[in-house]
Amino acid sequence: MTDKAIAATAVAVGLTAGYVAGTQKREKSEPVGRPSGSTTGTAAKEGERKYLIGGNWKCNGTLESAKALIVTLNEAGPIPANVEVAVCVPAIHIPLVLATLRDDIAVGAQNCGVNTKQGAFTGEICPDQLVDIGVTWVCIGHSERREGFEMAGEDSALVAKKVKVAVDAGLNVMFCIGEKKEEREKGVTMEVCAKQMEPAAKLLTEDDWSKVSIAYEPVWAIGTGLTATPQMAQETHADVRNWMSENVSPAVAKAIRIQYGGSMKGANAKDLLAQADIDGGLIGGASLKADFFNVINGAL
Ligand code: PGA
Repeated sequence: MTDKAIAATAVAVGLTAGYVAGTQKREKSEPVGRPSGSTTGTAAKEGERKYLIGGNWKCNGTLESAKALIVTLNEAGPIPANVEVAVCVPAIHIPLVLATLRDDIAVGAQNCGVNTKQGAFTGEICPDQLVDIGVTWVCIGHSERREGFEMAGEDSALVAKKVKVAVDAGLNVMFCIGEKKEEREKGVTMEVCAKQMEPAAKLLTEDDWSKVSIAYEPVWAIGTGLTATPQMAQETHADVRNWMSENVSPAVAKAIRIQYGGSMKGANAKDLLAQADIDGGLIGGASLKADFFNVINGAL
């Protein structure tokens, strides 16, 4: 964003332009402007997949708590050079985060409309509008949205269309898949994941897939404190990559990042990230705390 756009955004979220430029006194707990991030460690080598750690703030936070979380993240130290970080925040907090979060953490939305253009789509935010404001990532197909929480849920055909319109608009997508507890118990985990990926494989070109990361999130592990063991997660990640190889192309399968999600936190991140086919994480609860950086540093 230009300085003017940052100042305008900051005004919109209740900070004055002078405040953003640092000319006004502030409380230590208030984030100001978009500070530069810092890096450590060794970058991924040519041909290696760079880790992707996503934060999913879900429907959490007030203006005050979001500001405090931004300060925590801004002061959390360097990000390993082999890790890309993006946080998917509530739509209402996007302007604040874009104006004040360290510039080495990308900003994402948690959903977008399937409408390609602005217009009479009450309640929706279309991908172009996300791009316009400076958002670069969007999380699509999260199991909570597929399930629907007292509204109609999103099926895999709709999820695939959203992935396509988001990629076409220039966004990067965390495309979520994953099985429920009873499906794992029945031994149909991969069939379920394949069904969720099929419509997207039909709609997306090979080029489109370069903007997509698959977030494999076993539904029984989300927000429950239950985590798939590293071996269990690795096995499914390898199956998903294999499916991509057979149904999209070997080159896309080799390049695509597959994040694990489901009660991932500082204490278990290192072992999960050490697996050959686990290329990052999608973090819910732990992304609302300083522990998010323990996950990030698990890739070191
Ligand atoms: P969790 O959520 O880390 O709180 O389990 C993950 C997610 O839903 O993306």
